[in-house]
Amino acid sequence: MEQLKRKMEIKNISKTFYSKEGYFTAIEDVSFDVYDGEFLVLLGPGRCGKTVLLNIIAGLESKTTGSIIYDGKEINNVNPEVGMVFQKTALMPFKTVMQNVELGLKFRHIPKKEREETCQKYINLVGLQGFEKSYPKALSGGMKQRVGIARAYANNPKVLIMDEPFGALDAQTRYAMQNEVLRIWEQEKRTFIYVTNNIEEACYLGTRIVLLSDCPARVKEVYPIDLPRPRNMVSKEFLDLRAKISDNTDLSI
Ligand SMILES: Nc1ncnc2c1ncn2[C@@H]1O[C@H](COP(=O)(O)OP(=O)(O)OP(=O)(O)O)[C@@H](O)[C@H]1O
Ligand SMILES: [Mg+2]
Repeated sequence: MEQLKRKMEIKNISKTFYSKEGYFTAIEDVSFDVYDGEFLVLLGPGRCGKTVLLNIIAGLESKTTGSIIYDGKEINNVNPEVGMVFQKTALMPFKTVMQNVELGLKFRHIPKKEREETCQKYINLVGLQGFEKSYPKALSGGMKQRVGIARAYANNPKVLIMDEPFGALDAQTRYAMQNEVLRIWEQEKRTFIYVTNNIEEACYLGTRIVLLSDCPARVKEVYPIDLPRPRNMVSKEFLDLRAKISDNTDLSI
């Protein structure tokens, strides 16, 4: 990892929610670096604070302590260079695939022709050519997630955050989508931060894994992974890595 440039520094992030009933700490003193062009996986058990942490990294949620450094500068608001694929695809039901992908560019007043060219490129990249005029209700779960990925990409983010994007998909589609995401990452060479609660998925995808504890989320360990791609999920090296991480995880993973 030495040769890679540091893209983001997540430094001593904590998050406590306060309410009339009291307070609740979701994240406690989390620090890690994100390198330019890497596929970083955040692996943690259900409800450990993963989505809250991603929202803080993207500048969509405030933090209680700590700082987010991006290209050497501290960022305190929404970071326009960071794109997000949400845990639940938030597609507009009355807009077509093309219109959904175009949303961000429209907000930024990009002219129609340029908008359509950019969006078509990413619709093709995620394998949805021919479905530009379809509405979300006519798409499968995997196809909706592809629209979410194309929409995030169309905004030209330098860092793409994906929050358990395939958690709701069946095993077969999930596996196909993992390979699609790797293909896009290898083709476009951007930085990915990918969240999952699935150890096998983390070992299959990541250049590094940041293992989070049960709530409040803390960093338990960082694992660099140098297994060659495409990774063989039943090779001894893969199974050894999986077992090593599994032994170090909190129970609910
Ligand atoms: N706005 C909020 N106010 C109070 N508590 C919150 C708020 N948002 C999240 N939490 C709490 O913070 C904890 C972590 O939530 P978060 O959604 O980040 O978990 P997660 O790891 O993404 O879970 P999952 O695996 O189910 O997606 C949960 O206990 C949740 O109830
Ligand atoms: Mg979540």
